[in-house]
Amino acid sequence: MRIVNTVDEVRNQVRRWREQGLTVGLVPTMGYLHEGHASLIAASHRENDRTVVSDFVNPMQFGPSEDLESYPRDIEHDAAVVEKNGGDMIFHPTPEEMYHKGFSSFVDMTVLTEELCGLSRPGHFRGVCTVVSKLFNIVKPDRAYFGKKDAQQLAVIRHMVDDLNMDIEIKGCPIVREADGLAKSSRNTYLSTEERKAATVLWRAVNKGTELIRGGEKDCGVIIREMSAVIDAEPLARADYIKIVDCATMQQIETLDRDALCALAVYIGKTRLIDNFFTEDI
Ligand code: PAJ
Repeated sequence: MRIVNTVDEVRNQVRRWREQGLTVGLVPTMGYLHEGHASLIAASHRENDRTVVSDFVNPMQFGPSEDLESYPRDIEHDAAVVEKNGGDMIFHPTPEEMYHKGFSSFVDMTVLTEELCGLSRPGHFRGVCTVVSKLFNIVKPDRAYFGKKDAQQLAVIRHMVDDLNMDIEIKGCPIVREADGLAKSSRNTYLSTEERKAATVLWRAVNKGTELIRGGEKDCGVIIREMSAVIDAEPLARADYIKIVDCATMQQIETLDRDALCALAVYIGKTRLIDNFFTEDI
């Protein structure tokens, strides 16, 4: 397993793999890898001859008051996780390697990004689309792996690949959770012991939503109200949003008459956590 820091090194290695007729999978990450990331690396390892993991805290997708500086980093730990799960190379560039002086081209999307996290994080998906496009151009993978934990991101990437005719298969992988249901996230490390306990409220709200739907509830207003009540009962939690949207358009719907995504973002103290479920998975 190699760690490389430059675009040229990635290109040279991938070219050699291609000459041998090998297929390549890409797992884009911002590092501080946990079992959620590991599941994507393992899926890529199963389905491709070689797996590249990018490990880059992308400044472009952070807002001015967000956690770019404090975002956790640990490349040695990441290398062990990649190795253990069958990854072959880590691409770990500096911000200067990714964004040369004078960098001025962006990939932007006018639909899908106006809803959910796009509302509370303006410019976020422009940063994601731009960096993921660059990674696709650098690695030129056959397949790329994304988690359903970031459901809107997955939808945005699928849409970008379709719009821009990128010849890459996008794979969506299930959410990996802690034993108590909290979705694994690098941001969970920000939580104090008390906040960590309170953070299970997202999973409790998810369960409330799925229970209601299993029981036949189709009124999205009712489902959201009941889920909000779960969040409101936790003193350390404050909902940013709880929404039920059409899977394809990310537009809010009122009745569950098609495949939908129920997504929530909740502040636990100062830490913003997300979770979701797709009705097709219930
Ligand atoms: P990051 O938050 O590091 O996540 C990298 C990938 O891991 C994403 O596809 C995310 O959905 C997936 N992931 C995170 N937690 C998961 C969990 N608990 N279960 C399953 N998958 C999980 O998402 C990003 O980085 C960045 O926006 C990136 C795409 C790398 C662009 O910079």
